[in-house]
Amino acid sequence: MASEQGPFSRILGTGAYAPERVLTNHDLEKLVDTSDEWITERTGIKQRHIAREDETASDMAVAAAKRALEMAGITAADLDMIIVGTISGDVPMPACAVYVQQKLGAGPIPSFDVSAACAGFLYAMSIGDQFIRSGLHKHVLIIGVELLSRLIDWKDRATCVLFGDGAGAAVLGPATGDGRGVLSTKLYTDASLAESLKIPAGGSKERISEESLKAGRDKVHMVGSDIFKVAVKNLSSASRNALIDAKMDADSVRWVVPHQANLRIISNVALRLDIPLERFVLNIDRYGNTSSASIPLALDEATRDGRIKPGDTVLMCALGAGISWGSALVRM
Ligand code: ACO
Repeated sequence: MASEQGPFSRILGTGAYAPERVLTNHDLEKLVDTSDEWITERTGIKQRHIAREDETASDMAVAAAKRALEMAGITAADLDMIIVGTISGDVPMPACAVYVQQKLGAGPIPSFDVSAACAGFLYAMSIGDQFIRSGLHKHVLIIGVELLSRLIDWKDRATCVLFGDGAGAAVLGPATGDGRGVLSTKLYTDASLAESLKIPAGGSKERISEESLKAGRDKVHMVGSDIFKVAVKNLSSASRNALIDAKMDADSVRWVVPHQANLRIISNVALRLDIPLERFVLNIDRYGNTSSASIPLALDEATRDGRIKPGDTVLMCALGAGISWGSALVRM
């Protein structure tokens, strides 16, 4: 929600991390029946980063978080809360945020995960903003991290070509009254498509068994066309609602940082919002779909290379399993 007195929280620093190993579309041609041409035309992806066997989601999250803390000019001891958007934490329990707290050496502050798939980072931002807005907390570390290469069936060409590993983080701190900060966040979930994108086994409904492992039911299953159909509509309306909330129009948006799931989805969102694609930060060609990490990865890249400047208005939008989606409007 926007407010007369707001914004209340602002992004003090960003950071990102992607594993060193790169898997190209040509590498995938050797694994499944696919082609660089199909993947590029349908998705815009050329390569993705894949974590080392000994790397965990919290390792990647911490690497991104350290960079964000450094840019923010604060230390882990200054943090009041850690929120991690992820569906691929180190273990089912406890939360990935617990290991992030441990590895950063932060105090006994509330640290928890948000399970909103690709929208996880925006959910974390909205929650963090509320805690600062209420006056309860000063500094909240928000992270999007996914190690989806462990949750992908590498024999399923419909999914294995899409995803990559990575992490991105931001430090939220108090706004200083100069108009910079989180102007509006909007969050939504529609359970009617819950079955179209899921990991069927491994929860309390279906235990991991020899059979489920053999059938790959512990891996991501997606009916891509179901998601595609609603993605453009929902991402556009969430973006519009964030603008309406902040009493702004599309012309005042300097950059759009969308979830990088599919270039065709992003291009259609650009058309619907009437914002030229040149004002979208795109890195899907190099990272693929890193789920909750994709927005902070792109945000950090464009902040560090000088595209996003202090005072620029940035619109973010994401949609994923749930389906859960959302948007955020931030003056950097
Ligand atoms: N290589 C070659 N052919 C393929 C591949 C592949 N990797 N994958 C599928 N195909 C084939 C299919 O078998 C099908 O063949 P057929 O016509 O002979 O049956 C054909 O290509 C078309 O398949 P579709 O699934 O209809 O392809 P579509 O154009 O829908 O593109 C895609 C698929 C890229 C997955 C698209 O649907 C999409 O991007 N969906 C949205 C994904 C998304 O945003 N997910 C949410 C975020 S993820 C998260 O929350 C974790």
